[in-house]
Amino acid sequence: MSDAIKRIGVIGAGQMGAGIAQVSAMTGFETKLFDTSEDALRRGYKGIESQLNRLVEKEKISAEKANDSLARLSQVNGLKDFQDCDLIIEAIIENVEIKCDLFKELDTLIPENTIFASNTSSISITRLAASTTRPEKMIGMHFMNPVPVMKLVELIRGLQTSDETYNTICSVVEQMGKTSVLAVDMPGFIVNRILCPMINEAIYLLQEGVKAEDIDNAMKLGTNQPMGPLTLADFVGLDTLLYILRILHRELGEDKYRPCPLLVKYVEAGWYGRKSGRGFYSYS
Ligand code: CAA
Ligand code: NAD
Repeated sequence: MSDAIKRIGVIGAGQMGAGIAQVSAMTGFETKLFDTSEDALRRGYKGIESQLNRLVEKEKISAEKANDSLARLSQVNGLKDFQDCDLIIEAIIENVEIKCDLFKELDTLIPENTIFASNTSSISITRLAASTTRPEKMIGMHFMNPVPVMKLVELIRGLQTSDETYNTICSVVEQMGKTSVLAVDMPGFIVNRILCPMINEAIYLLQEGVKAEDIDNAMKLGTNQPMGPLTLADFVGLDTLLYILRILHRELGEDKYRPCPLLVKYVEAGWYGRKSGRGFYSYS
């Protein structure tokens, strides 16, 4: 266990926050989870509980490990409860103003030694860091979905992230059994800079009349991707995908990142993918 990091706080209990909290507790960190929505917090916690039970049933982990992991995980009611955390990982909605407001508030409540990390998919870490008085303690820690399964964590250093912060977080990622890569603090980092334009292009094909199943089968069987791009879009969340594409388009200023109008329409309709029950496909 890291000497510097013993307690981790996770903010946002959606699909990413819950996954990060699960991995953190399973690694041995005392873990606290918070969400502004009580319902999301309850669902996130229950989801972790059932994931751990499934791992026991499949004999991937012992019942003792599952119980110990759950015992290390607590749901908390507010940001003040994170005051004893050594690292706080933010995994809330992909909106720059809302994230900056959160970090500004955290900065006033949390001791100055605590490291702040963001799981943002595309937003500048330097910008998030500027809303705090501790830019040297801010870092991007971009986990992939589903967190318990995916091996990668992209690390992003903001302009002022210190070597100490970076080295500490590299070691946390290693303890979690994941591999880190270092990305430059530019919109979309590495994975989403490449992945999101590909998914966007698939949505243009759908808009032009190609069937969803044919697009997905083409990429699954033709390029050995585990999920076709439209299935993956539903899995990521169409609202999140649109946020990312808008950031790429605005910040990099190139038409190739323009979100497909069909994606915009789906999000306007509340079709967010798997999490809302309907996206490019329907989920019961
Ligand atoms: N949470 C935890 N575990 C999960 C899971 C979830 N949501 N979904 C699947 N798994 C586990 C299963 O339990 C299973 O475990 P075992 O092998 O131990 O039994 C394993 O993953 C494989 O699952 P399945 O057999 O059910 O299905 P699969 O072989 O199709 O794999 C998948 C599922 C791992 C999700 C695979 O389809 C995949 O890799 N898809 C692509 C995922 C991807 O590209 N993620 C990155 C998205 S981009 C991103 O995250 C960045 C961003 O900012 C948007
Ligand atoms: P989600 O919609 O599943 O969950 C977001 C959660 O944040 C919700 O439960 C919401 O109630 C909560 N929330 C919103 N504002 C809050 C606040 N001010 N304080 C506390 N909680 C708040 O979203 P997600 O897919 O888990 O994405 C979360 C973050 O992770 C985003 O920045 C996203 O870009 C990033 N990310 C997503 C994926 C993906 O595949 N979905 C992958 C990597 C990174």
